[in-house]
Amino acid sequence: MIINSITCIGAGYVGGPTMAVIARNCPDIKVTVVDVNEQRIADWNDSNLDNLPVYEPGLKEVVAEARGRNLFFSTDIDAAISEAQMIFISVNTPTKTYGTGKGMAADLKFVELVARKIAEVAASDKIVVEKSTLPVRTAQAIRSILDNTGSGVKFQILSNPEFLAEGTAVNDLQHADRVLIGGDHHTAPGKEAMDALAAIYGRWIPRERILLTNVWSSELSKLTANAFLAQRVSSINAISSLCEQTGADVDEVAAAIGADNRIGPRFLKASVGFGGSCFQKDILNLVYICRSLNLHEVAEYWEQVVKMNDYQKQRFARNIISRLYNTVSGKKIAFLGWAFKKDTNDTRETPAMYVAAALLDDRAEIHIYDPKVSQERIYGDLRNLIAQNQLTIDPAQLPDLVKVCKKPYDACRNAHAIAVLTEWDEFKGYDWQQIYNDMFKPAFIFDGRNILDIEVLKDIGFQTYQIGK
Ligand code: NAD
Ligand code: UGA
Repeated sequence: MIINSITCIGAGYVGGPTMAVIARNCPDIKVTVVDVNEQRIADWNDSNLDNLPVYEPGLKEVVAEARGRNLFFSTDIDAAISEAQMIFISVNTPTKTYGTGKGMAADLKFVELVARKIAEVAASDKIVVEKSTLPVRTAQAIRSILDNTGSGVKFQILSNPEFLAEGTAVNDLQHADRVLIGGDHHTAPGKEAMDALAAIYGRWIPRERILLTNVWSSELSKLTANAFLAQRVSSINAISSLCEQTGADVDEVAAAIGADNRIGPRFLKASVGFGGSCFQKDILNLVYICRSLNLHEVAEYWEQVVKMNDYQKQRFARNIISRLYNTVSGKKIAFLGWAFKKDTNDTRETPAMYVAAALLDDRAEIHIYDPKVSQERIYGDLRNLIAQNQLTIDPAQLPDLVKVCKKPYDACRNAHAIAVLTEWDEFKGYDWQQIYNDMFKPAFIFDGRNILDIEVLKDIGFQTYQIGK
């Protein structure tokens, strides 16, 4: 089966970059990315590539090459479904905020809406690909929607979870460690659909890295991969608090254990905690599935990864308050970084907002600088926390209590303390002497990412704190 027309429903952090990279590598395949969010599509079509809705190193170059040639962004979802042979579902699957499974289960309403839309519009056979991260056995639900249209159209459902990390998405897509394709390999049409998708990736991914499994293994592997990665971060963060009490240095411990090639060196960087749209959501989802299947011990095991992460964020905030003489009321705290990691403008579940909430609760004033995150988004994050009762300030007070600065030196001027929340490279090159000169004394710095040269800062006169030291 030769595929020459692909549609992706959902033009977010996954849909946009993933399809851009497919379009670049397969110039003969028409790739259309559609979304209900008109502004998002307008931003993907913006002639100024600095206005793309997703910031990722290398992304604008890929979009510049393919857009208008074989890559298109559109709001005409029906037309895109009709013409595609293969449809990727790449909509968001957030944690449910209501009803059964509230706060734990994945909310599949967007996925279901898309499945119903495909069922309604499709007039020819389609391969439907789950690109969103989904609970194991979701393909069954999608199948039951698609198989009950009565239209005679035949659907093959594949699972093809995405493993890209934000900040390195283009590189991760271009040089994927593996591509996972789950399908019904016991039937001829199922096998044909899997081969058709494998052939697309095979244009640039070595064949031995394309793994073919059954659908359930593929769905579950995605949740498991994120759970294992997050578990490593929580494990090293757990050890970081022990290091602080014992004189061990967490970076030295990480290097020592990471040198064992059974453990490996990556994902052992102690931090203020992990953020991002997926780790917490996917683990909570895993925990929910385990509980639903009466696997309570398994559920508790994984839930502890999230609890440890919450502890680490709160520990960082409490540390700031206790070192600033047990109160930050009326004190100015400068935040360097708001994104959940460097090289992205994504702020979903960023540890920075939880640290901010704890400090605002203690009546601090926060001045934030982030190279890629807008004031609008920061205020949006904090308003969300207020709406969820995780921050108890009057929304009208937000502009007085939280200022977003265009320059780092403005954020730090007259501050009592600086907190580094994201590991942006540019922070390392600042004129720290000048920053120190402009701060209240004693000038405190809390490096939540262990990226600054702490000896230099101490020599300047800063009171310093690092994670796990
Ligand atoms: P996102 O919120 O950035 O994008 C999702 C898009 O889907 C939004 O633009 C939304 O408007 C659109 N959408 C929702 N319902 C729609 C509908 N009915 N019709 C058309 N469009 C609709 O989300 P994301 O970060 O791209 O994540 C998408 C999925 O990929 C999630 O399941 C996530 O867990 C998974 N994932 C994300 C990452 C990541 O790094 N962000 C990595 C791997 C997997
Ligand atoms: C993560 C996974 O790495 C991807 O494989 C997966 O596809 C994706 O989730 C997803 O499903 O959404 P992402 O969240 O974009 O990617 O970024 P990571 O590099 O994994 O970082 C996640 C968080 O952990 C960040 O806040 C980061 O700062 C933190 N982290 C990571 C640490 O604190 N220490 C580390 O050693 C590594």
